[in-house]
Amino acid sequence: MAKTVFDVVVIGAGAAGLFCAATAARRGRRVLVLDHAAEAGAKILISGGGRCNFTNLSVRAENFLSANPHFAKSALAKFSSQDFVKLVETHDIAYHEKRLGQLFCDDSARGILGMLLGLCRQNGVTLRLSQKVTEISRGAAFTVQTDADMIEATSLVLATGGLSIPKLGATGFTYDIAKQFGLAVIPVKPGLVPLRFEGDPWGWMQGLSGVSFESVARFGKREFRENALFTHRGLSGPAVLQISSYLSEAGDLTLNMLPGTDASALLLERKAARPKAELKTILAEMFPARLAQALLPEALQKQVIAETSNQRLKELGEKINFLRMRPTGTEGFAKAEVTVGGVDTAGLSSQTMGATEVPGLFVIGEAVDVTGWLGGYNFQWAWSSGFAAGSVA
Ligand code: FDA
Repeated sequence: MAKTVFDVVVIGAGAAGLFCAATAARRGRRVLVLDHAAEAGAKILISGGGRCNFTNLSVRAENFLSANPHFAKSALAKFSSQDFVKLVETHDIAYHEKRLGQLFCDDSARGILGMLLGLCRQNGVTLRLSQKVTEISRGAAFTVQTDADMIEATSLVLATGGLSIPKLGATGFTYDIAKQFGLAVIPVKPGLVPLRFEGDPWGWMQGLSGVSFESVARFGKREFRENALFTHRGLSGPAVLQISSYLSEAGDLTLNMLPGTDASALLLERKAARPKAELKTILAEMFPARLAQALLPEALQKQVIAETSNQRLKELGEKINFLRMRPTGTEGFAKAEVTVGGVDTAGLSSQTMGATEVPGLFVIGEAVDVTGWLGGYNFQWAWSSGFAAGSVA
């Protein structure tokens, strides 16, 4: 089979791969992007509810999980969220800040994908979709065998993302090829994922699906103050998704359902001020009606607050402010927004994303053990790591 020669082959036409390809091609490199999907950037299109939360106004290494918390710093500094915003503005893509610095397209995520594909086109990137890569080997250069072609290139960029949403074509391809070249892979798990709470003692959550409330979700020293949302099988919402990435077997998550208020003190104060009020009326002033009812044990449903012992009120306050929870599971990669873990940064240069022991090999985007919080951080990592590799590959 005849070989086609390129300078750089990027595998994965997602956020990181496309941006890396355009960056390398701008330097005059002959770049080929291969993807097994029929369409490029499928995750960009569904992201942010179709409006793509493409970055965040404030991006720091602290917004990422990684075995090496400093690894992301260099790439994030070389190509920052401000740099990406400038690019978006140059392409006349209208955007707005939703909350907490999160930037979304006004119209559609198609604007971002269109911009990336346009940059690839302008700089002469060759994009081949519906390509199955069957084998990769390395001699003087890398040889990439697909079901249609054989390609040779001096640089190989692995950009196939993580395992979340397999129905969109997510695979562990990058992990397998990284291992083939001697790179370690930190065990992966679903991140930014809804949690399941089923059976005892979570029966009280049944029927609360759709109810949301302000909360602080905490695990160890990490906490997020945002909304939480009951689902059919447990909990979701930004606070819960954020903390889900940090959970381990090592302990319980705690949920404060009334942040900034000492619920026990409030209940005792209400008892003194309005002794004849029913407990459920008092709780309904603090929470959505369905949640207020679910929080009260059957025996206290009709109880007047004056008849409730201070001890009982303190226990109730404790449940409200400090609910210890161990999920029965997560909704898995099928519903996870990201994959925590991935190619170990110990084997990569933080300046270039290049494998230190394998010249010419680069790993970028979500496949690397760098996982962002909810809020545009994962795309920023895709842009920054893609830029770092695209500047040298
Ligand atoms: P990405 O997954 O984008 O691309 C990987 C590419 O590789 C795909 O095109 C895939 O087809 C291809 N591929 C996979 N296996 C292959 C193989 N074996 N051979 C060839 N090609 C292969 N983040 C954020 O910052 N803001 C947001 O609003 C959202 N919203 C969001 C919503 C939902 C529902 C999800 C699932 C995720 C998000 N994210 C997000 C996360 C964000 O989408 C994600 O982190 C980036 O897309 C990662 O970019 P990558 O380029 O690394 O992988």
